[in-house]
Amino acid sequence: MINVALPKGRLGDRAYEILAKAGFECPAILEKNRKLVFENPEKGVRYFWVKPWDVGVYVERGAADVGICGRDILLENRPDIYELVDLGIGKCRMCVAGPADFYDDGLRTLRVATKFPNIATDYYEKVGRDIDIIKLNGSIEIAPILGLSDVIVDIVETGNTLRENHLAPLETVLGISARFVCNKISFQFKHDEVMRMKNGLEEYVAAREAEKAEGKA
Ligand code: PRP
Repeated sequence: MINVALPKGRLGDRAYEILAKAGFECPAILEKNRKLVFENPEKGVRYFWVKPWDVGVYVERGAADVGICGRDILLENRPDIYELVDLGIGKCRMCVAGPADFYDDGLRTLRVATKFPNIATDYYEKVGRDIDIIKLNGSIEIAPILGLSDVIVDIVETGNTLRENHLAPLETVLGISARFVCNKISFQFKHDEVMRMKNGLEEYVAAREAEKAEGKA
């Protein structure tokens, strides 16, 4: 049995669809209820719904053999796991954002509000800017509006949240998409099952890329 940690929410739903198409279906998961664990012994697969921020913890500690996790969370929490496939779904950007007319004169420490202190620290270290991190847990866009911070480092998908709060993306920190990740010991001891899943996912990604390329041709 291969244990799969799925992030609860839209990304997890899409990830399950891809896994099902790749031959790891588990129809019970589609029933509307509040259960968190579902298994299909015929396909040798067991799924758990967990909070997106916790996928890496389950996988690192081996409670799950594999999982689906956003690159943002992986870079922020740095779990000791293997990243096997870029699924190309859940695409968005990590950005520095603030008032559209914000100008950093570099004269004082820049106040940065974020849910991602490690990513923000790495980024500003690279650009050589002295910052003061203000760690928040959500609704980050409010921080510059209320003067709590000068800018934010946060996820931008459609850009609607920024626009509706009169903010704008100022710099792109990194691109984000969902990754198929694996526990290091499971990779050794459940190698065949993990590779079957990895190959199925890679086939899906390749087919979608080919479709896109055809659409463009
Ligand atoms: C994320 C992110 C932005 C928003 C960006 O928030 O922190 O606020 O989505 O999406 P958009 O560009 O499509 O508007 P999330 O919904 O995860 O909630 P949070 O504010 O609690 O972080």
